[in-house]
Amino acid sequence: MNDHVIDQGFDAYTDSEHAVWRTLFERQSKLLPGRAAPEFVEGLKALGVAADGIPNFEALSDILEAATGWRIVAVAGLVPDDVFFRHLANRRFPVTNWIRKPEQLDYLQEPDVFHDCFGHVPMLFNPVFADYMAAYGRGGMKALNLGALKLLARLYWYTVEFGLIRTEDGLRIYGAGIVSSRGETTFSLEDESPNRLAFDLLRIMRTDYIIDHYQQTYFVIDSYDQLFDATRPDFTPYYAQLKPLPSLSPDQVLPTDERI
Ligand code: PHE
Ligand code: CO
Repeated sequence: MNDHVIDQGFDAYTDSEHAVWRTLFERQSKLLPGRAAPEFVEGLKALGVAADGIPNFEALSDILEAATGWRIVAVAGLVPDDVFFRHLANRRFPVTNWIRKPEQLDYLQEPDVFHDCFGHVPMLFNPVFADYMAAYGRGGMKALNLGALKLLARLYWYTVEFGLIRTEDGLRIYGAGIVSSRGETTFSLEDESPNRLAFDLLRIMRTDYIIDHYQQTYFVIDSYDQLFDATRPDFTPYYAQLKPLPSLSPDQVLPTDERI
């Protein structure tokens, strides 16, 4: 079966493409200490060591594999759901190989190598998060069979992509969609407008999300163990319970929600 893996084409990157990576990398690396979760900042060091430009996926994978057993594989862009889940279940993270143009530093509709690699790879150095991602892949294959993809995709969105975590020192970001975006890094933490609600698995799986601007609601976990523990049970009964319920809009706050 086609796994959609391609050659990264590392030697084909131009100097200006590496320069786009460096610009984004330096900008975010300055912004993130004190804003990103300590585990993200820790994982980011490995990325800085691996490359002074777009990382070579093979070399980076060797470092990552030694830490948590994960490797990254090159893809041309978004891959079909079943393919994506199978990669995750086998501890392979698909990373888009191309990089945005210099005039797209702040906004991009689809993931590029900066989002995928800078945004996702640092957390894959964290053992608990690394296991969560693999479990998510197995859960994804199951959700496909149960016709529950939409419900499970919301969990990915509100944790892996746009998750916040509460630490002793205050709120921190760990979601890849936030940490790879200069604007959303400060918006998600400092702006008054978005809702910041305590993590609630079933509540999240009912909640629609927006893909074309900053989120109106972020969900806050207390620890990666909390996330992992909440997602450990068999989701089959959850899906059955949630399917007949109407979905919640991205900006909705319920009386039962705990604001953070
Ligand atoms: N436990 C979930 C299930 O049975 C799978 C899962 C694990 C989903 C981790 C998300 C994250 O479907
Ligand atoms: Co992503």
